[in-house]
Amino acid sequence: MDDLRLGVIGLGPRSTLADYAHLPGGGSRIVACCDTDPRILRAESARFGPDIAAVPDLDRMLDLDLDGVFVLTPDDTHEEIALRLLAAGVNVFLEKPMAITVEGCDRILEAARRHRVRLYVGHNMRHMPVVQTLRALLTQGAIGEVKAIWCRHFVGHGGDFYFKDWHADRTRTTSLLLQKGAHDLDVIHWLAGGVSRQVTALGDLSVYGGITDRADRSGQRMRDWFDPDNNWPPASLTGLNPVVDVEDISMMLMQLDNGVLASYQQCHFTPDYWRNYTVIGTEGRMENFGDESGAQVRVWNRRSNYRAEADITVVVPPASGAHGGADSELVAEFCAFLRDGVQTLTSPVAAREAVAAGYAATASLRAGGRPVAIEAVGDAIGEYYAAGQPGACRPTAHAGGVS
Ligand SMILES: NC(=O)c1ccc[n+]([C@@H]2O[C@H](COP(=O)([O-])OP(=O)(O)OC[C@H]3O[C@@H](n4cnc5c(N)ncnc54)[C@H](O)[C@@H]3O)[C@@H](O)[C@H]2O)c1
Repeated sequence: MDDLRLGVIGLGPRSTLADYAHLPGGGSRIVACCDTDPRILRAESARFGPDIAAVPDLDRMLDLDLDGVFVLTPDDTHEEIALRLLAAGVNVFLEKPMAITVEGCDRILEAARRHRVRLYVGHNMRHMPVVQTLRALLTQGAIGEVKAIWCRHFVGHGGDFYFKDWHADRTRTTSLLLQKGAHDLDVIHWLAGGVSRQVTALGDLSVYGGITDRADRSGQRMRDWFDPDNNWPPASLTGLNPVVDVEDISMMLMQLDNGVLASYQQCHFTPDYWRNYTVIGTEGRMENFGDESGAQVRVWNRRSNYRAEADITVVVPPASGAHGGADSELVAEFCAFLRDGVQTLTSPVAAREAVAAGYAATASLRAGGRPVAIEAVGDAIGEYYAAGQPGACRPTAHAGGVS
């Protein structure tokens, strides 16, 4: 089997994804890298071996006859880069969030269909063992029919992670409700078996907005300033991004197209980092405690007062690697999708729906909580992606595979 010839654009922290795809002789390898920062390009491309093509701009990548490209750049660049790759006939792995506007997502969906090029959006949380455990219990009917999902997202380290670079600037992300929430909004939709059609939200910049100390961190990456042992409490942080205008606390309510009601709360100044999903069905409820290996999902399905011990307790299975083992699974699925067009756990339309919910909720919270409706994609787009992108080109038809 020839290796897929893959490229990666954006060699920041998230480029660890590309390492999972660099398996020379094992089915795929990274043959080209691109980053607009020459220092990063030089330092990070070396890990893919001496033959790597390290190029400073996307145009140079388009000449390399690649089977697929990982787009791992900041959110506001996703749309333009994806559109250029798709127009050039290059299959795309696009990091979440798909884009920072609904219109941007729709342009990407349309371009991939028009050019018949494969599009995959990297919603790794669908591969996380805790999410898989929740989903398996639902599929087995452990709590009957789902009626409500509540997700509380405690974004510990929020100040270091999201308020010292581009994430804090709404022109680069729209909001953290979209940027970060796209993960959980997609999971909520997946667990519920529906998508949001109306949302309302409230939010505020309630802690980091009071910090006046700013820093220009050009050339730095998050690992240069991340300090888990200090920088506490959050109001003591220094060196925030010059622009800080995204919310650090947001709460949204969703009405899904299948009648399920959901809520998502995100806070960037908690001491701890994890997500708690509570799913309520017609015959019980379940909840996760912790979200990594060894965490528990507990199910209550008997009538009682409060009981910490549930009726069913499932331990989330161990897995190694980033995001609870999800990232390696994600990359493996992308490569299989490129090679064989296999059915995937996520879909580009689902990724769009997550952005749409976050985008609408941001509009709602910035308008004092007014309800905002969300339109579905058109029928032609919906049918094309539901059918698994029929007719999109197969990479093995390219001349460039290497053995
Ligand atoms: N799925 C997940 O769990 C997860 C986790 C972290 C980040 N992300 C996503 O991954 C993406 C990258 O995140 P990051 O933390 O690595 O960002 P980052 O800003 O730290 O790094 C991005 C890199 O892309 C480069 N770059 C910027 N614009 C470019 C362009 N036009 N062409 C080529 N290179 C360019 C930058 O120089 C930088 O090296 C974001 O979209 C983020 O939302 C996803």
